[in-house]
Amino acid sequence: AASAVLAGIRMLVTSGPTHEPIDPVRYLANRSSGKQGHAIAAAAAAAGADVTLVSGPVSLPDPPGVRTVHVETARQMLAAVEERLPVDVAVCAAAVADWRPEAEGSQKLKKDGSGAIPQLRLTENPDILQTLSQHHTLRPRLVVGFAAETETVIEHARAKLARKGCDLIVANDVSAASGVMGGDRNRVHLVSPEGVETWAEMAKTEVASRLVAHIGERLKAAAR
Ligand code: C5P
Repeated sequence: AASAVLAGIRMLVTSGPTHEPIDPVRYLANRSSGKQGHAIAAAAAAAGADVTLVSGPVSLPDPPGVRTVHVETARQMLAAVEERLPVDVAVCAAAVADWRPEAEGSQKLKKDGSGAIPQLRLTENPDILQTLSQHHTLRPRLVVGFAAETETVIEHARAKLARKGCDLIVANDVSAASGVMGGDRNRVHLVSPEGVETWAEMAKTEVASRLVAHIGERLKAAAR
């Protein structure tokens, strides 16, 4: 079928935010809903791919036809991703926290009445997209990243493409005015070494199915 453009392809998708524990009851997180990443996993499965979705905490159902692995932290997400290698394609749509609290308190932080304010020390999280893109032995044939920016979206995406070493960046504007974070629609730019392709605003599910078709085209072109 024309819809089975990814038949026989092993694909990994990351989606959602990560939660980085501060103490047993508190965490650092972001506003990612997981809608775009989950839609990509579902569309890829519908196109015949063997899909594993590694999802941070979201309030979405597991997509049909997809093996879904649930994680909380960036470190757990990386471990789940590495466990799944080798794959043909990786799409990193998760909004992974760049930093986590350096030490997780084993007990809930308490006000002690003195007015002393706890100081959070942060440390850097592993970069999953970069790890996959620069993997020495198991780099996927195609690595796709996302770039959520609030300004100079394309410029930032170009820099990210080079820094991380991925093949394609799907860049979108997540400034509050765009309504993209948590919303159902998206307007993206596909940034690769070959150039920039800007798509009209459409539903995230539509972005997902077009991206899957685009990935199918790229794999076909690379095989020629
Ligand atoms: O650098 P920045 O976080 O803006 O890059 C966004 C891209 O990198 C997304 O594809 C995101 O999923 C991925 N990423 C990642 N691991 C991180 C940070 C970002 O996979 N720790």
